[in-house]
Amino acid sequence: MSLSELKAGMVVDKAFRIAEVDNRIYGSFIEHLGRAVYGGIYEPAHVTADPEGFREDVKQLVQELNVPIIRYPGGNFVSGYNWEDGVGPVDQRPKRLDLAWRTTEPNEVGTNEFMKWAREVGSEVMMAVNLGTRGVDAARNLLEYCNHPEGSYWSDLRRRHGYEQPHGVKTWCLGNEMDGPWQIGQKTPQEYGRLAYETGKAMRLVDPSIELVSCGSSSTGMPTFPEWEAITLDHTYEIADYVSLHQYYGNRDNDSANFLARTMDMEHFIHTVSSTCDYIKAKKRSKKTMMLSFDEWNVWYHSNDADAKLEPWSVGPPQLEDIYNFEDALLVGSMLITFLRNADRVKIACLAQLVNVIAPIMTENGGRAWKQTIFYPYLHASQYGRGVSLRPVVDSPKYDAQDYTDVPYLDSAVVYNEELEELTLFAVNRHLEEALELKCDVRGFEGYRIVEHIVLEHENLKAVNTAEEESVRPHTQGSSTWNGGYVNARLSKASWNVIRLRKV
Ligand code: AHR
Repeated sequence: MSLSELKAGMVVDKAFRIAEVDNRIYGSFIEHLGRAVYGGIYEPAHVTADPEGFREDVKQLVQELNVPIIRYPGGNFVSGYNWEDGVGPVDQRPKRLDLAWRTTEPNEVGTNEFMKWAREVGSEVMMAVNLGTRGVDAARNLLEYCNHPEGSYWSDLRRRHGYEQPHGVKTWCLGNEMDGPWQIGQKTPQEYGRLAYETGKAMRLVDPSIELVSCGSSSTGMPTFPEWEAITLDHTYEIADYVSLHQYYGNRDNDSANFLARTMDMEHFIHTVSSTCDYIKAKKRSKKTMMLSFDEWNVWYHSNDADAKLEPWSVGPPQLEDIYNFEDALLVGSMLITFLRNADRVKIACLAQLVNVIAPIMTENGGRAWKQTIFYPYLHASQYGRGVSLRPVVDSPKYDAQDYTDVPYLDSAVVYNEELEELTLFAVNRHLEEALELKCDVRGFEGYRIVEHIVLEHENLKAVNTAEEESVRPHTQGSSTWNGGYVNARLSKASWNVIRLRKV
């Protein structure tokens, strides 16, 4: 395709409303894994450590991202975790073998410390319970410990531990990736469905105000997908509010056009799970529509070889430390766009994870904290993607990749913030060689003008950031002009764009 031919059109109108964006789609995840906790958010010897040992420099970066909800404490870790090990006097807490990641868990940080940290960074916590090695009893006790005000064994224990006020954890995951053979205490869908239902039932008796997430498939590649959803939801449909989805992508064969098309799979995943939920809804004659919690998503593959060489049983080893490049940031941008376009079903999403472990924020032990390439699309979406998601009617040239056909070069979502009178267009140009000329009809937005066109671009798709140099960072020199109700924008080859309009 020659330069002059790469043109796309888009119509945006207030009437094309998908749904109000649930801000929790900008959630993230901290697992007791690698250096996420020990050496990440928590490092008592660090020069910026607060009195509890948490790094202030990391807190500031998390606050900059404005993360509404953080999933904790796992992940695979939770399936072997005894939450009681992590509460009470720190010097009396046991060190345990964590079988999920084959490390030693010192239990210096547990439920109370994490809840306090999360409050300080302005995030709610989405707590996962262990349905691998444990079950109903441990889950209902943890909930009582966290949420019951006082006057019972577990709530009074919390108060004796120095936390008089209940934590008020609203959202609870019923286990983690219980379909996976790598999971400690893996279940068949029938086993999981029964256990999750009974656990959820007991938890609701402790605190009827909580929301519950039923475990979905670990990825679209699982042999039991989507039968897992159909069978498990048959048990949990009436007790759960959400079903979880997890998905990571990689570019192992270095086919960037194919890599940038991976959100075609993600879109398909969301639609398949939604349809399966709706089938169970119909089967049960239910009035409730099940919502989706995409509570693990990211790019993950760079660190696989290094992880295979790590010695077991250390505390806080450098596990899953993917160093992200520029093309990873483009795919992360597209994944965020995919959530916005599915805002009617996806109500929670957690970028996995937040610090050091497949993360936008990295730290040096005893040193600096710095931003990976993927920090930026996540930041922009969290900053400007709050409001109503509008469906852009797009006419874009397309390409065929190794695994996908008819991939639009233009990947886009639009958010209208009625209160602030702002309209934001998020767009990725997937073309690796050519700029895309976009003509966007926004005539329905009378009195609006372009205030900023943010761009993340780089000559080298493999460019990375380091603690020394942030080579991939956004600029605001994007080329967009206003022309009588139309935005004419030039989207550079392989770029992430945020075009911001406001009523003047
Ligand atoms: O986020 C890393 C791991 O990926 C999680 O522990 C697990 O749930 C998933 O397989």
